[in-house]
Amino acid sequence: MDNKNLLNNLNEQYNFELESAYIYRAMAHWCEINSWSGYANFLYKQEAEELEHADKLKAYLLDLGYNVKLKAIAEPKSEYDSLEDIFKSALEHEKLVTSRIRMLFEEARDINDYATEDLLRWYISEQVEEEASFNDIIERLERINGSMSGLYIFNNEMAARQ
Ligand SMILES: [Fe+2]
Ligand SMILES: [Fe+2]
Repeated sequence: MDNKNLLNNLNEQYNFELESAYIYRAMAHWCEINSWSGYANFLYKQEAEELEHADKLKAYLLDLGYNVKLKAIAEPKSEYDSLEDIFKSALEHEKLVTSRIRMLFEEARDINDYATEDLLRWYISEQVEEEASFNDIIERLERINGSMSGLYIFNNEMAARQ
């Protein structure tokens, strides 16, 4: 089994998870600048999750003796119109991640790389949760519809994410 190309692509995904972490960190900064500490807390926790996703890929690659490489990370967007804009962008980003994971999974299948397929199955389930979580937040924000008291109550709930 020649999985060199697949491992290179996993290394790309490792870097993409780091980029995801960076994007969520920038979103958290926007929230802090705009005095929404609860939403910022949620996004910092999200950043930490992305770092875990990255670490899991890195550990797998290292187990296979792959020479893991860090790449330059693109400067994340720092200007947003609103909280809704942030969480809609986050959902779009997660959809992009999902499509990347699916492509990796298909590549693993094509070359009968069962171990990588197994690893990627974890990411596929994780992406369902990630998309559901952002969908839920967007729905809540749409229901709040710009009401300040609604945004504050939700902010306090978001502060509680562990
Ligand atoms: Fe991720
Ligand atoms: Fe994610």
